[in-house]
Amino acid sequence: MSESYVFYQGKIVKEGEVSISIRSKVFNYGLGCFEGIRAYFDGENNQLYGFKLKEHYTRLLQSCKSLNINLDYTVEELCKWTIELLKKNNFKQTTYIRPVAFKGGEGIGPTLLDDDNRILIYCQPLDKYAGKPELSVCVSSWRRLEDNMLPPRTKATAAYLNSALASLEAAEAGYDEAIFLTSTNHVCEGPGENLFIVKKGQLVTPPPSDNILEGITRDLVMKLAKEELGIEVVERSISRTELYASDEMFFSGTAMEVTPVVKVDNRVIGEGKQGDVCAKIKELFFELTIAKNPKYADSCTPVY
Ligand SMILES: Cc1ncc(COP(=O)(O)O)c(C=O)c1O
Repeated sequence: MSESYVFYQGKIVKEGEVSISIRSKVFNYGLGCFEGIRAYFDGENNQLYGFKLKEHYTRLLQSCKSLNINLDYTVEELCKWTIELLKKNNFKQTTYIRPVAFKGGEGIGPTLLDDDNRILIYCQPLDKYAGKPELSVCVSSWRRLEDNMLPPRTKATAAYLNSALASLEAAEAGYDEAIFLTSTNHVCEGPGENLFIVKKGQLVTPPPSDNILEGITRDLVMKLAKEELGIEVVERSISRTELYASDEMFFSGTAMEVTPVVKVDNRVIGEGKQGDVCAKIKELFFELTIAKNPKYADSCTPVY
């Protein structure tokens, strides 16, 4: 991996040439935020597509604004550098792209006034992230962070300790993934993915006010359900036992893509296998990630 190319401090360099101080604020205090983006490879046409780049970099710059990380780049420039980087690495497979914006300054104290603002973008091949095609999950004993505490909306680096604790608990108990509740006991999301349930023909998902990250895949899933499948989509708070009584459940996220959940806290969901709504959304989703649906072609930026 050390021979891969990364974007750092305004240029594309070899990964091994990047050096970040052990004293940096990002390393010591997690003062940073990041994005997770995919580029999908279409083997038939030998083409790689950056997927929803604009949406991801818009969210990154919004996160930076909340966290006082001042980058000298526009969304368009970051999209352009990302395409350059993918080209330079000559990836011919589905790839994960990780931009990290952070405070690189040294000195004791977790201050966001530090004016050493940096961005690093690296990428690596990534096929499936979910270890299995159908997941068994648990409701975590760890509560989700709140907007006025460590805002999940900002995809802040430090917030992923909350995610990691829930994932650790789930893995140690033999589950594939965790689901957070909010401090008001509403269903929130997974450690790195949004959640949907299907009940009485409606597609239901928690609202942003329940401290979710407003997922880019979540937006797309809602649009596909409404516009392509004619399914009613409702954003509202969900109670824990509604999960158990749902007809279908699935996760959405850049890494997780669209992945069905078939068991929660050992209760079987629906028929214990991927449901019809999830299957249809998955099909539409994967088709459009490689620019096969003209209506959604602007989501895909060709690399080559
Ligand atoms: C906590 C959390 N929720 C949801 C998501 C899904 O968001 P997106 O679809 O934009 O990748 C992610 C992944 O970025 C995440 O980390």
